[in-house]
Amino acid sequence: MKVVYLSPSGQMGGAETSLLTLLGGLLQQNPEFRPYVIAPEAGPFIGRCGELGIPYEILSMPARMERVGDSATADRLALLGRAADLVRGSRDLVNYTKALRALLRREQPDLIHTNGFKMHIVGAWVKSGRGKRGAPLVGHIHDYVSTRPLAGRLLKVGSSRFAEFIANSRSVAADVEAFLRPQHVSTVYNAVDLTRFTPGGSVTDLDALCGLPAGVLGVVRVGLIATFAKWKGHVTFLRALARLNTVQPVRGYIIGGPIYKRASSQFSIEDLRTEASRLGVTDRVGFTGFVNDVPGAMRALDVVVHASTQPEPFGMTIIEAMACERAVIVSNLGGAQELFAEGVSGLGHVAGDECAMAAAIERLIENAPLRAQMARRAREHVTLQFPVSAMARQVWTIYNDSVARSRSFTWN
Ligand code: GLC
Repeated sequence: MKVVYLSPSGQMGGAETSLLTLLGGLLQQNPEFRPYVIAPEAGPFIGRCGELGIPYEILSMPARMERVGDSATADRLALLGRAADLVRGSRDLVNYTKALRALLRREQPDLIHTNGFKMHIVGAWVKSGRGKRGAPLVGHIHDYVSTRPLAGRLLKVGSSRFAEFIANSRSVAADVEAFLRPQHVSTVYNAVDLTRFTPGGSVTDLDALCGLPAGVLGVVRVGLIATFAKWKGHVTFLRALARLNTVQPVRGYIIGGPIYKRASSQFSIEDLRTEASRLGVTDRVGFTGFVNDVPGAMRALDVVVHASTQPEPFGMTIIEAMACERAVIVSNLGGAQELFAEGVSGLGHVAGDECAMAAAIERLIENAPLRAQMARRAREHVTLQFPVSAMARQVWTIYNDSVARSRSFTWN
């Protein structure tokens, strides 16, 4: 089976990590599986596809499309303006769709898998027109649809063209059901690469990376690993660090950096440093910037905190940290809650509440045996619940069902 993947990005975000893991699993299980990736730009994601021997094509996207996937203002007028701007006889958009159709004609896929809002919309456009055009479409939904003012509505218009939607959690599946009312939606949890995210292996020297003096003996290291989007809860984390009241020495780490094009939706390192100094925690928090060796950074921590203040659709870093046998503290909203058993393989806290977060951190700092037991159970939990083989099998069944359901077609 030949599957063309439409990726909205060449960078490595959660959706791309999820797709790469899936591709690895599908390649391993199905000798007849032939993937082909189309993305608007080169980048680390495309680099990894190359390493896996997956053929790809870079087809750059018109600038107006770039803004479609953004979760931005819900202001009706602004939305209408953006929608009109997009549709208004945009020649580059027509050319882009033409080029994509030509590529699909050349590649003759049996199925198209779209991996992000912009590409769900593009996929639906490509299938528009007279008759049933092209191979069945499977839309892999990684984020809540109902909270995307423009992309959500555009997708709603084209949603009948999808043979099936895959949602990354039950929470996202419920959102897709309610908002798009599609014919078929299945929950397929993301998988974690258990050979890369292991308890043993490289351990990053976080102190050196942050320019901090080496931590004292017995220091407990607590870290937040995320992009700098404002809803990822960096400020809650800093406030919780400021509230900690333990005899045990503690160090906090903010791992990652800003990746988005729009500055307004994310913090800069300077913003967060300023906040840390305002809270008087500069001596107990370090900023690493981007790290390449994510498992190595996780293994350097005793506790990994997920701090999102809005519902997290899934939360790859949570299962990755669990696979590295780390104790995790997770915001109690959205799909993230589905990833662990409360008090057994992780600790939930009230999202956005620094007191609740501080209490959870203190509990794990002060009780080393509890921390160790939770970490062991976390690895056991993800090994059972999120193996690559299960994700690949589920998706393969969805592909086959979608192909079987679709009528015979030709690329013309
Ligand atoms: C998106 C979601 C995130 C999820 C990832 C992979 O980035 O925001 O929660 O982990 O996709 O599905």
